[in-house]
Amino acid sequence: MHLTCQHISKSYHDGDDSIHVLQDINFEVAAGQSMAIVGSSGSGKSTLMHILGGLSSPTSGSVCVGEHNLADLSDDELAKVRNQYIGFVYQFHHLLPEFTALENIAMPLLIRGVARHQAMQEAQQWLCQIRLEDRAEHFPAQLSGGERQRIAIARAMITKPAFLLADEPTGNLDESNGQVIFELLLELQFSHQTALIIVTHDMNLAKSLERQYILQHGQLTLCP
Ligand SMILES: Nc1ncnc2c1ncn2[C@@H]1O[C@H](COP(=O)(O)OP(=O)(O)OP(=O)(O)O)[C@@H](O)[C@H]1O
Ligand SMILES: [Mg+2]
Repeated sequence: MHLTCQHISKSYHDGDDSIHVLQDINFEVAAGQSMAIVGSSGSGKSTLMHILGGLSSPTSGSVCVGEHNLADLSDDELAKVRNQYIGFVYQFHHLLPEFTALENIAMPLLIRGVARHQAMQEAQQWLCQIRLEDRAEHFPAQLSGGERQRIAIARAMITKPAFLLADEPTGNLDESNGQVIFELLLELQFSHQTALIIVTHDMNLAKSLERQYILQHGQLTLCP
């Protein structure tokens, strides 16, 4: 199964002004592969990740998840494809503040209609995998930044997505916590054969993935 990005361009319009953020982006990633995207602030990394995850549409070009061209799907179909194949870890964790750590992890399964006791049981196993079993009943506000990011990763992984998209998952963490998060992502990629696409500012972390791309002037270039 592949995630394929063909001739993706994205412009934002503001009155008479338009910003061409992405210009003709092309790449493909297969199950089990990993790639990093680096680029300066404002270069369009989050814009690209949101398009890959079906959270926003490109101005032109197409994103295919397996045989599904995201542009051809209705809102309901798109939500299903996202829930089935894509896990998303946001630049800012986006955990639901009124739910516990365990409930946040279980949420994608509950949305799928999995019975509550089973969803909670699976969430509990994920909590162990991310080594936060003693934080099950904590609310996001009671967790550290690194803990929240681990919860967000477990939430993204609980549906065993073919593709995990992580937008600066270590951006708000210190170096050693950033390293922990990266190692967790690599461990999950290995054990579940998930394809990983990670945006990071940190070239050292980027180098632990198979391919490194730089996003610059709207173009994505493979680093030698
Ligand atoms: N909804 C929007 N409307 C207009 N311009 C936008 C919008 N979203 C993003 N932009 C602009 O597009 C450019 C790319 O933004 P984006 O968030 O993708 O950058 P980024 O590479 O993720 O930056 P950072 O590293 O700071 O997260 C920026 O110049 C931003 O101001
Ligand atoms: Mg960003």
